[in-house]
Amino acid sequence: MNTLKNILVLFLIVVLASCSKNISKMDASESSMISKKVDSLMGLMTLSEKIGQMNQYNGFWDVTGPVPNEGDAANKYDHLKKGLVGSMLNVLGADEVRKVQKIAVEETRLGIPLIIGFDVIHGYKTLSPIPLAESASWDLEAIENSAKMAAEEAASAGINWTFAPMVDISRDARWGRVMEGAGEDPYLGSLIAKARVKGFQGNNLSLPYTIAACAKHFAGYGFAEAGRDYNTVDVSISTLYNTILPPFKAAVEADVKTFMNAFNILNGVPATGNRFLQRDILKGAWGFKGFVVSDWGSMGEMVTHGYAKDGEEAAKMAVNTGSDMDMESYLYVKYLEKLVNDGLVDIALIDDTVKRILTVKFELGLFDDPYKYCNSAREKEITGNKKIHEAVLDVAKKSIVLLKNENQLLPLKKEGLNIVVMGPLGNDKHSPLGSWRGEAADNSAVSLMEGLQLYTGNSITHQMGVKLTEGLPNFTTETIINTTDRTGITEAVAAAKNKDVVIMVLGEHGFQSGEGRSRTSLSLPGLQQELLEAVYKVNKNIVLVLMNGRPLAIEWADKNIPAIVEAWHLGTESGNAIAQVLYGDYNPSGKLTMTFPRNIGQVPIYYNHKNTGRPTYPGGNSVFWSHYIDESNDPLYEFGYGLSYTTFKYENLKLSTNSLTENNDIEVSFTLTNTGNFEGKEVAQLYIRDLYASLARPVKELKGFEMLSLKPNESKQVSFRIDRKMLEFYSANEKWETEPGDFKVFIGGSSKTVLEGYFECK
Ligand code: BGC
Repeated sequence: MNTLKNILVLFLIVVLASCSKNISKMDASESSMISKKVDSLMGLMTLSEKIGQMNQYNGFWDVTGPVPNEGDAANKYDHLKKGLVGSMLNVLGADEVRKVQKIAVEETRLGIPLIIGFDVIHGYKTLSPIPLAESASWDLEAIENSAKMAAEEAASAGINWTFAPMVDISRDARWGRVMEGAGEDPYLGSLIAKARVKGFQGNNLSLPYTIAACAKHFAGYGFAEAGRDYNTVDVSISTLYNTILPPFKAAVEADVKTFMNAFNILNGVPATGNRFLQRDILKGAWGFKGFVVSDWGSMGEMVTHGYAKDGEEAAKMAVNTGSDMDMESYLYVKYLEKLVNDGLVDIALIDDTVKRILTVKFELGLFDDPYKYCNSAREKEITGNKKIHEAVLDVAKKSIVLLKNENQLLPLKKEGLNIVVMGPLGNDKHSPLGSWRGEAADNSAVSLMEGLQLYTGNSITHQMGVKLTEGLPNFTTETIINTTDRTGITEAVAAAKNKDVVIMVLGEHGFQSGEGRSRTSLSLPGLQQELLEAVYKVNKNIVLVLMNGRPLAIEWADKNIPAIVEAWHLGTESGNAIAQVLYGDYNPSGKLTMTFPRNIGQVPIYYNHKNTGRPTYPGGNSVFWSHYIDESNDPLYEFGYGLSYTTFKYENLKLSTNSLTENNDIEVSFTLTNTGNFEGKEVAQLYIRDLYASLARPVKELKGFEMLSLKPNESKQVSFRIDRKMLEFYSANEKWETEPGDFKVFIGGSSKTVLEGYFECK
C-alpha cells in the first residue's frame, strides 16, 4: 500500500517538476509552479505528517546544545520512519546523509525528503577566518566568495542548509559570540549579511553546490546583559529598529530562505514566542516568505524563562507567533496535533508553516533528486580542493589588521635575521581554526611557524614560553583552565636575548570565544602578559601577533610593544596568511569592525554612541561631565581603524552643495594620496551626524566606504553621494523617515575621521 502511494506521489511530483526548474530568484511563473506542487502535496498529507515537517531532530551523533532527555531522543528513529521528521541537523558526510534521507524518502508514506542543516559558520572542513575577522576585510567580494566556497564544500558532504549568517550586532566584547558576527555597525553588518546570503545561496538554489542560508538570531541576542550568553535583553524600540534589525532586513532583501529565532527574551517576551518580531515585522512588514526555525531547545526554554506554563503552552505560543520549525524541543511533535484538535491552534497556521518549509525543499530541488547532495565521489573531489584553499587564504590575508608599527619594524627583511617565535600560539595548529569549526579536523590549520618556514632566508626558532590552557578544550568543554606553569618563562627570556626580532604570538584559545564563552576579562588569558613583559625586559624588538575571537584590552602592549598585528582566528590557512603579511608580500588592509577598549570597564563601547548632555571637560576642576575618573573615554583602537605599511593622506573635501533637497543629492569628494613607500589599499570611510532630531542620533554613523588601491605618491579623487534616503532613521513617530535639519559629514580612514563638512537637509 505504502509503495503504491509512494509511486503515485513521486509521479505527481515528477510531472510537476518537469515543467520547471528551481531557482533562487524565481520569476513569478516558476514560483507559482512550486506553489502548485506544494499545494497538491499538502492535499495528500495528514495533520500529523504536516506537523512532522515542522519537527527537526539532531543527528544521532553530534551535539551542539544540551542533550535532550533520553525518552525523547529514543523516539527519533521511529519518528523518522513514520514521516514525523522534516529536518535533521548535524548529520555529516554524503554517506550518512544518504542513510537518513533514504529512510525519509523510501520508508515513509509520502517520501518527503529531509532538509539537512549544519552550522557552516566559516567553512565546513576547510576554514575561512572567523566571521568577525572576515568582516575586518571590508571586502564584500571576498566575503561572498568565502561563503560560496563553504557552501560548495558543505553541499558536497550532504548539507543543504546552513545556520548562517549570524547577523547579530553586538557592542560587548565579553560576549563570546561576537566572533560569529560582523561587529558593531548596522550599515556594514547589512552589506555583509547580503554578501554572505548571496555566497551561500547563489543565484540558483537547486544546484548541487548552493545551500539555503539562515539569518540568526532573531532578534536582540547580541545585546545580552553584561555580555553573558543567553542573558536577558532589554532594548528600546529605537535601538531595535535602528541598530539590531537592519542586517536581518538586509538578509530578507537578499532572499534568505530561512531565519532562526533566539534564546533570549526581548523586553520580556522570548524571541521564540514573539509575535511582534516574527509575525508583525518579519512575515508582515518585511513580507518574508521562508520559514523560521527555533534555536536549539528554545521553545522548551520559554517555560524556564517564566513565560509559558508548560511545554504544551510553549508549543502553542511558538506556533501562533510564527516559529515554524522546532529544533530539539520535541514539543511540536508531542503537542501540536492535540492543540489543533482542541481548537487552540488554527490549522491555517500549520498549513502556512508547512507550505513555507516544503517550498524551500522544492527550491533546493530535493524533490527532483533527494540524493543530489549525497555523492561521496563528489565529496572527495571537492573537500579541501585547491580553489577552496586559495579562497580561504585570500580572505585570511585581507582580514588581518595592523594595529601598530613603530619605526617600520614591519615588514620583516627576508634575509639575515635571527628570529625567535614565542608564545603558546606560535606553533599551534588547533586554535587558529577558531570556534564553530564545522568538520575541520583537529590541528588542521597551518601554524605560524609553518607559514614562516616557507621563507628560508632567516633563522627561525620557536619557544613556547607558557602554555595557554591545560589540556585540549573542545566545543563542549565546560571549563577552560588557564595554565599556572611558569617554568618555561626563564628559558624563553634567555632565548629572546640577542635575537634581531621576537615574534610573540599570544591571544585566546580557539574555544575561548564562541557560544557559551563569555568572559569577565578581556586581558590576555593565563600567564601570557607575564611572559610578554618578561621578554620585553631583555628585547624590545617585539612583533606581537594576536590570535583571538573578540576585541582584547591590551593597553600595556599598545604602550610598549612597537608592532602589533591582529590576526584573529584565521582558519585553515592562518600561518600562511600571517607570514605573507609579516614579510610584506601582502600589505595589510583590514580595519576593525568592533571597537577595542582600553579596559573592560569601558564595555559596552562603540563608535556610534549618543553624545550625552555633558560630553566634554568643562575646564577648571570639574568632575561633572560624562567620564571615568580612572580611565579615558576613548577606546584603544576605534571602529574602522587599521594601518598599512604605507600611509595615506586625506585632503580637499568638497561638497557639491550644502543643501540637500528632494531633487538635489550632494556629492562629497576628496583627494586620497598614498604618501608612503609601499603600494597599498585603503578603506576610505564616510560618516554623517544628524545634529538634532526627534530622537537623539549617534555622534557618527557609517554611510559609505570604498576600498582603493594606490601606488606610492599616487592620488585619487574619491566621491560619495548623499541622498535623503541615506539619512532615514526610525524616528519618534515610529516610522522610517528623513527629518529636515543640520548634518555633519566626515571622511577618514577610521571613525576618528580627518575631514569634516556641513550640510542642511531641507
Ligand atoms: C546555537 C545556534 C546553532 C544551533 C544548532 C545553538 O546552540 O545558538 O546558533 O545554529 O545551536 O547547532
